Amino acid sequence: MTMYNNEMQRRLFELSKALLQNKEIPTQNEAIKEIKELAEVIVYHEWRYYILDNPVISDYEYDHLYKRLEALEAAYPDLVDADSPTQRVSSDLSSDFPTVEHLTPMLSLDNSYNAEDLTAFDERVKKQAGLETDKEIEYVVEPKFDGGTIALVYENDKLLRGATRGNGAKGDDITHNARAMRSIPLYANFSKFGVKKAELRGEVLIRKDRFEKVNEKRMKRGDAVLANARNAATGALRVKNSQEVQDRALEAFIYQLGYAEDMEGNTMTTPFEKHNNQIELLEQLGFKTPTIDNGERKVCKNISEVIDFCDKWQEQREDYNYEIDGMVVKVNDLDLQEQIGYTSHHPRWAIAFKFKAKQATTKLLNVEYQVGRTGAITPVAKLEPVPLAGVTVSNVSLHNEEFIQQKDIRIGDTVLVERAGDVIPYIVKSMEELRDGSEIPVAFPTDCPVCSQPLEKPEEEAVWRCVNFNCEAQVLERMIHFVSKGAMNIDGFGRQYVERFYQEGFLTKITDIYRLDYEKIAKLEGFGKRSAEKLKKAIEKSKKNPAYRLLYAFGVRFVGNTVSKLLVAEVEKLQDLKDWDSEKLETIPDIGPKVASHVVTFFKNEENLALLNEFEALGVNVHRLEEEKKKAPILEGAFVGKTILFTGSLQQMSRGEAKKKAEAVGAKVLSGVSSKLNILVVGEKAGSKLKKAQALGTVEIMSEEEFLEAIDES
Ligand code: IVH
Repeated sequence: MTMYNNEMQRRLFELSKALLQNKEIPTQNEAIKEIKELAEVIVYHEWRYYILDNPVISDYEYDHLYKRLEALEAAYPDLVDADSPTQRVSSDLSSDFPTVEHLTPMLSLDNSYNAEDLTAFDERVKKQAGLETDKEIEYVVEPKFDGGTIALVYENDKLLRGATRGNGAKGDDITHNARAMRSIPLYANFSKFGVKKAELRGEVLIRKDRFEKVNEKRMKRGDAVLANARNAATGALRVKNSQEVQDRALEAFIYQLGYAEDMEGNTMTTPFEKHNNQIELLEQLGFKTPTIDNGERKVCKNISEVIDFCDKWQEQREDYNYEIDGMVVKVNDLDLQEQIGYTSHHPRWAIAFKFKAKQATTKLLNVEYQVGRTGAITPVAKLEPVPLAGVTVSNVSLHNEEFIQQKDIRIGDTVLVERAGDVIPYIVKSMEELRDGSEIPVAFPTDCPVCSQPLEKPEEEAVWRCVNFNCEAQVLERMIHFVSKGAMNIDGFGRQYVERFYQEGFLTKITDIYRLDYEKIAKLEGFGKRSAEKLKKAIEKSKKNPAYRLLYAFGVRFVGNTVSKLLVAEVEKLQDLKDWDSEKLETIPDIGPKVASHVVTFFKNEENLALLNEFEALGVNVHRLEEEKKKAPILEGAFVGKTILFTGSLQQMSRGEAKKKAEAVGAKVLSGVSSKLNILVVGEKAGSKLKKAQALGTVEIMSEEEFLEAIDES
């Protein structure tokens, strides 16, 4: 039995989406109704989040509803109900452990979502501190760790107790589990600094890779898998038997000195002037903290540095070893902190910068089918457009029939979509509990949606294919591939032009690309002389391309850029490959039987050879250029089998792109510097990783430019 049946959930979900549209403060009468509705949906979403750990709206949307309720209650204080969600302190207390009182209350943080929010925060801080607007405030910024909060009390240098956050005033006593964490020292030399008693705050986390291993093990044992890393950490924090804490290798990041007492038992305001010095002290005493050396913590001299640092972390969040959901910005000067003060809910001197949500829910409106250049049919979900991690998502690939069946995805479903880092957005799952029975199971087509010929699927493959080589969709897709950046690289020639010229009858076969009538093109609506000239120039230029580009542009299956280069290096001109059989091809390092057989089939086909001759006659280069000749070490691939790591801030690509590039040339990307590391690529402001690699003396260090040049050659 759940608290809410599907019909109720559907109603509350739709109501939430409607309430999110409201902006103006309504009249009292309208407010009565809206406050009631807001309270109802917020309680529902809290249940989905805290109890099921399976929210149906994003944190951002939840915060928005919550803030809306706060705003209405502020406008009409008489309407505040004692049971309103805003009136209760959130609590994770359980009855399994004795509760203990925190030395000072553990507050929450206010949230911000963009540069404007941060600028507004900075302005508030200055106002509350009585400073001129042109003064600069120094901030410390560090990751907002997404785990379980912990408070540690040390007395006379000994770990006295560990507690969860609980309701902020009191928490569960979990000292036994705190003692089981290797990153929490049992002794720390506080007395050396005149501190008798201290309370530290931090977050308990599990490393991402460790989390995956824990789940693999659980799966093998037949135990339920843990939903996410946060759950794996918070769950283990509350176990009776601390073995689990060790098995999951829980770690505690300490980010705050909450309270301190001197040797006489007097509350110390603090032995330091700055928050940053406090963290340095904790670092010295052996605690794990977000460090400046690793680029986790930064002292920023003004809010614009804060904004840059937050943006940088938003970009690189996926490369970090721990789950984080934002950054925390704190005023560095401790006197200033006191002056600015607190609300009952959060300190006014700090704010959380929340990253753009990785997940969102939206409606699946329809499924359409795309035909690729090899005839592969890809089902594509058409979604109600939804903002996700900085872009609007309205199309998502469903990969193949099996994917749809396994996830039981139906048209009309509310689906959970995820976009993490540079990863292409994908559907995590359908929200079964929001169905009303009108959803339609997806019926995969049996005929090609473009040419209507029956589709085929070999037993061992997952993909349905249109096997009609002359299918219009395939012809078009092959042309689009041909002109694309990776292939003939014809600047300005893309999908739109191909489709247009095809419709106009200028392009029927692939070689027509080199027979275009530019006068006719200039007369097309939306074109003109200038753009026709430009296109001509780009097309003419492509005739001089190295031969591997032409071979790759044909789109032979399994013949990517790398294989193309390998093949071209062996022959004088492309047509020579017709004399190569599988056996001979397989003598080329890195070419296996599968690739070889596709190459043989391609060159056996008279039509393909005729096309090659036609290209040659049209002036397109089919000869191996000097630069394409075999260069022994590079052909092996300078990166094949090597381990690589990126550090510092990269200027020409994101971390995700860098990783993909490295993997494409056969390298394996590591997460840290160790004796196993072969290559370190260094971006701007590289820190401890560079030092460590230099110290090892065995790591090849290259700049971002050198890396990009080197992969172009391999
Ligand atoms: S400082 C008084 N710093 O975020 C200031 N909190 O909503 C208290 N959190 O549950 C918080 N990383 O456990 C701070 N670097 C960080 C943090 C952090 C995660 C958590 C904290 C609390 C929540 C605040």
